[in-house]
Amino acid sequence: MSRTKAQLRRIGILTGGGDAPGLNAVIRAAVKVAVREYGYTVIGFEDGFGGLIENRARRLSEREVVGILPRGGTILGTTNRDNPFHYPVEENGQVVVKDVSPQVMKNLEAQGIEGLVIIGGDGSLTIAKELWERYNLPVIGVPKTIDNDIAATDQTFGFDTALNTATEALDKLHTTAESHHRVMVLEVMGRYAGWIALHAGVAGGADVILIPEIPFTIDKVVEKIMARRKAGKKFSIVVVAEGAKPVGGQVVVKKVVEGSFEPLRLGGIGNQVAEQIEEETQIETRVTVLGHLQRGGSPTPFDRILATRFGAAAVNFLAEGRYGEMVCLRTPEIMTVPLAEALHVMRRVPVGNQLIRTAKQMGISFGA
Ligand code: F6P
Repeated sequence: MSRTKAQLRRIGILTGGGDAPGLNAVIRAAVKVAVREYGYTVIGFEDGFGGLIENRARRLSEREVVGILPRGGTILGTTNRDNPFHYPVEENGQVVVKDVSPQVMKNLEAQGIEGLVIIGGDGSLTIAKELWERYNLPVIGVPKTIDNDIAATDQTFGFDTALNTATEALDKLHTTAESHHRVMVLEVMGRYAGWIALHAGVAGGADVILIPEIPFTIDKVVEKIMARRKAGKKFSIVVVAEGAKPVGGQVVVKKVVEGSFEPLRLGGIGNQVAEQIEEETQIETRVTVLGHLQRGGSPTPFDRILATRFGAAAVNFLAEGRYGEMVCLRTPEIMTVPLAEALHVMRRVPVGNQLIRTAKQMGISFGA
């Protein structure tokens, strides 16, 4: 379906799923381009699809986006719940899951929204696709995640900032590792992809990097640490991706969260690895779980630029009538890909990855 740019006058924007540094930069760019280039009115929906379902929205003019470029988080709020196609509502004292998408369409109509920019991960963009396919709602998706695991784009914004945070953490952990002759284990995020662990591990001079794509054995990890000891290096730094797992083992699930776009909350492998290292080597070992620090803070210049390009492109593509698509980076261009092709295709670290080869040549162990 295509409409001309003259047909759009009011567009909506929302952020869904987990936050990532750069969301505000996308919102800012989208608002600025929409207002300055096309004269659109922009309505921001609050807290992801929750705001669409409950019609919680506010106008975003250029004034509302002043000063947000360097700010982490999202001024619109977000949630990884509230799927309008499976929405829990209370009826006669009982919670039933309903399709409230007709209500969403009513709210959009009431707001006079003719196009929608949806910034989110796989969960949010799947809803975007369904709104487009079922209701012909002009939507354009903007991919975000610190995990950098969306195959259709060369990179997602948020990853570079998370990588910086993880690298800085490793630099700091080196201090205690060296001073106390300890093994320091850092657990990083990334879900089922090892991008943050691999890149931070190389950038932060780790000795062992454990990623989901390469199942490890603790023997190999211990072998590396003991070899270092023998060579006079009394400390070691180990980076563990939260989705890493031992050969023949499973990922460590901290909690199952019903109703979330991503019900499995990962975490705990860092502790397990640290305990096993201490037991096997008798070297004092400590673990740090970096957690949501990786999602916070001011986006790096790289993320600000990518997010700005995504936000501007989303509005430009919407104006061109490119609906049901997602903006993506195909270096050096920003392009679009149909949501139907982009979704559910995860980009994990290929085991033949050149950086892995380089890391191995540098003596870094992957525990395999
Ligand atoms: O997908 C981004 C991410 O930060 C993952 O790396 C992590 O596993 C997950 O989200 C944590 O989600 P939550 O904030 O819901 O605990």
